[in-house]
Amino acid sequence: MSLAGIFLITFLLVHLGINLLVILNEDPMVFNRAAHFMGTNKVIKIFEIVLFGGFLLHIIYALILQVQNWLARPKRYHKMTRSDTSAFSRWMIHTALIVFAFLAIHLADFYFKAKFGDVGETSEEGVHDLASLIIDKFQMPGFVIFYVASFIFLGFHLIHGFQSAFKTLGLNNKTYTPVIQVLSILYTIIVVGGFTAIPIVIYFQ
Ligand code: HEM
Repeated sequence: MSLAGIFLITFLLVHLGINLLVILNEDPMVFNRAAHFMGTNKVIKIFEIVLFGGFLLHIIYALILQVQNWLARPKRYHKMTRSDTSAFSRWMIHTALIVFAFLAIHLADFYFKAKFGDVGETSEEGVHDLASLIIDKFQMPGFVIFYVASFIFLGFHLIHGFQSAFKTLGLNNKTYTPVIQVLSILYTIIVVGGFTAIPIVIYFQ
């Protein structure tokens, strides 16, 4: 579960880097070409299979862990006492469900449209105009609010997930733990801030 999580953490950085091209570059073709490369390159296609496999493994292991936790104590505690686990950790399964729902809607709106839908072509052969698809979507205030809210929950999920993934790999001692905690906060700020900037900049531009 931890390795699948680290793979997804890396994927998000790559995905963010490419998507930021939509707002950082005046010319939409820069993003369209990058997306075309990601969608057609053979090596990346293999990574895509690994990515979806990673998501599946991550979800299956999470469900197994959650059921094991419930079975370990079938009778709920009568009174909740404070423990040293963070709120992010206690809400992992809930934030996971929100991210999962976001992902289902996101893939239907972008991925399946890009792969099988009717996305307009650009002047360059075979290169689809995904930039216009993104820009059109983020003209709708409801869509922008839904995305930004989802990114906040994604952030809650990532901040604990990042730390927990490295803890599972044994990197949990007085030297590594503070470094990993700082890195998890930095990573989450970059990912949530970067993704949030995309719908907001497009909407107000
Ligand atoms: C404003 C933010 C985002 C934009 C504009 C965006 C845009 C896109 C687009 C255009 C595609 C289709 C690309 C293609 O297949 O050629 C895509 C695919 C995908 N997105 Fe996003 N995305 C955003 C945020 C996210 C987030 C936060 C996640 C994960 C939690 C995510 C997960 C995925 C996955 C798994 C795919 C399919 C794999 C791939 O083709 O790379 N996306 N996204």
